[in-house]
Amino acid sequence: MNERLKISINTGGGDAPGLNAVIYAVTMAAERRGWEVYGIHTGYAGLLDTDQITRLTPERVAGIVSLGGTILGTTNKGDPFRMPVKNAVGDVEVRDVSARVLSNFKRLGLDVLVAVGGDGSLRLANRFAAMGMPVVGVPKTIDNDLASTVITFGFDTAVSTSTEAIDKLHSTASAHERVMVVELMGRCAGWIALNSGISGSADVILIPEIPFKIDRVCDKIMENELHGKRYGIVVVAEGAAAQGGEVIHKGREEGRREVILGGIGEWVAKEIHKRTGKDTRSLVLGHLQRGGSPTTFDRLVALRFGAAAVRFIAEGRRNVMVALHPPDMVAVPLQEAAEKTKPVPLDSDSIVTARDMGISFGDD
Ligand code: F6P
Repeated sequence: MNERLKISINTGGGDAPGLNAVIYAVTMAAERRGWEVYGIHTGYAGLLDTDQITRLTPERVAGIVSLGGTILGTTNKGDPFRMPVKNAVGDVEVRDVSARVLSNFKRLGLDVLVAVGGDGSLRLANRFAAMGMPVVGVPKTIDNDLASTVITFGFDTAVSTSTEAIDKLHSTASAHERVMVVELMGRCAGWIALNSGISGSADVILIPEIPFKIDRVCDKIMENELHGKRYGIVVVAEGAAAQGGEVIHKGREEGRREVILGGIGEWVAKEIHKRTGKDTRSLVLGHLQRGGSPTTFDRLVALRFGAAAVRFIAEGRRNVMVALHPPDMVAVPLQEAAEKTKPVPLDSDSIVTARDMGISFGDD
């Protein structure tokens, strides 16, 4: 197909290391085919205020593969179907501005949108696809919770950062004979906590997929004492909850679908102190997990996602998401990709391995 296409790309939702590598790959692969690439700023905002659209060229994207963040900006509050806007008297009203997004897309003569995002952004992309905007999705999230792809980019970097943090906690925990509780991101999936907890030799890993009993967590800490290990490392996913308890969160933000998770680490630390008398501290690793340069793995997989998106566009595929089904990149229906999430399977080899290492999930 020798058609000279005008394609666009946006990044939506929480940033993840590797976004710039996708932008680079899409730009370079499109340029080779003689196409034009336009970067839409801050999710769909660039299609509401079209001054926020930039022509992406090899010169513009040179050197960005190793950079964290996204040169296009992103938002997790930019749902054009439910956009908070100020009315004439200054009050905030929620409006559906999706028709304006679509008409600007068409007016600019854009052929396809490469939508790089997690479940929320892919759901938006899917709604635009249903309205007639041709879309190819690219799966992004540090949480690794999209079912249609074996892995999302950003996850490996988040796990590496978390493992490094857990490694560092060992020496201070040991020096003070303390229990250190570290809360990690991941929303309703425990992938980051599980992978970094095993790699960082945690004593306890608490994930949303396995509701825990705080008494079992304390049993593990006290069992360590009996064996002469006088400190403990507890890794808690932000979405974990005690059996019969609720997920702890910090409420909602205007323009956002999901609650902001956080607080379980502190709760677990307090309960351990109360029940064991051990000196206990908690920390939240937070956005450090999303920051910095992507690992080699994330760069490579992000470049492969971007290049595959352009190949699929060239083949005439639309309304699909690029997915990694090792060793291949495949196109899966966008709707299916946007709808299905991926919790950690309870019989996964990583869970079995953790149990073999003596790691407790607070359930046995
Ligand atoms: O989905 C990515 C993620 O980092 C989650 O792990 C976390 O719960 C959320 O985004 C945090 O969002 P925000 O950047 O708005 O605090």
